[in-house]
Amino acid sequence: MARRKKIYEGKAKTLYEGPEPGTIVQYFKDDATAFNAEKHDVIEGKGVLNNILSEFFMLGLGQIGVPTHFLKRLNMREQLVRSCEIVPLEVIVRNYAAGSISKRLGIDEGTQLPRPIVEYCYKDDGLGDPLVTEEHIAAFGWASQQDMDDILSLALRVNDFLSGVFLAVGIRLVDFKIEIGRVYEGDFQRLVIADEISPDSCRLWDVKTGQKLDKDVFRRDLGSLTDAYSEVARRLGVMPNNPPAPGKPTLVN
Ligand code: TMP
Repeated sequence: MARRKKIYEGKAKTLYEGPEPGTIVQYFKDDATAFNAEKHDVIEGKGVLNNILSEFFMLGLGQIGVPTHFLKRLNMREQLVRSCEIVPLEVIVRNYAAGSISKRLGIDEGTQLPRPIVEYCYKDDGLGDPLVTEEHIAAFGWASQQDMDDILSLALRVNDFLSGVFLAVGIRLVDFKIEIGRVYEGDFQRLVIADEISPDSCRLWDVKTGQKLDKDVFRRDLGSLTDAYSEVARRLGVMPNNPPAPGKPTLVN
């Protein structure tokens, strides 16, 4: 069997050349990292859960007309996506204060923000993904003004969609990060939601108890990450009713 071509290996995913031009296979690894990979562990089952959760959110976004790079899930750990050029920004939307904004501005974690706040970080691991302003983005040509208008509108639509989906299953969407891709169609470019949407890239708190159901469980050593992600998948109906044995998640289909 021919060996497929690896395009890129990231901290949580590996990208391979897809079966057709313009496609990529995204393989979800079990690796968990935090603090710019200073902390690292392998959490059995995480990749499977993130693959199916990201599929669920990307399909839902597609259904409300938010374009994404997602094409189809291939198997437990892989999905086929459209190849795109990644805008070098991490787009963060915050509904409640937590994490870096709490530290930076001295706001207690859990404080509801007056309105969703959108922040941009420059994607550069060597620099630790620093927070940047639209002035930097324009001056260094990372995105045009039209792109920034579109990115803001996409980010807020994703926020409304995800907030509603999570609230319906008793989970508060505290904040999340998305990445944006450019796809070219003839002379035109279109922006799409790329990368992944999963508990790795969101903060998710149980509405009643405040229990954390996201990667902070790993970052802050709060217990089993697989249990937390399985709970999210179970509530969203993408896991079977019988809880899987720890570290052995099972798909519905
Ligand atoms: P922060 O509070 O650490 O800035 O994180 C904000 C959100 O972005 C949170 O949901 C976690 C997510 N995030 C990532 O997906 N990747 C990252 O590298 C970081 C630092 C945060």
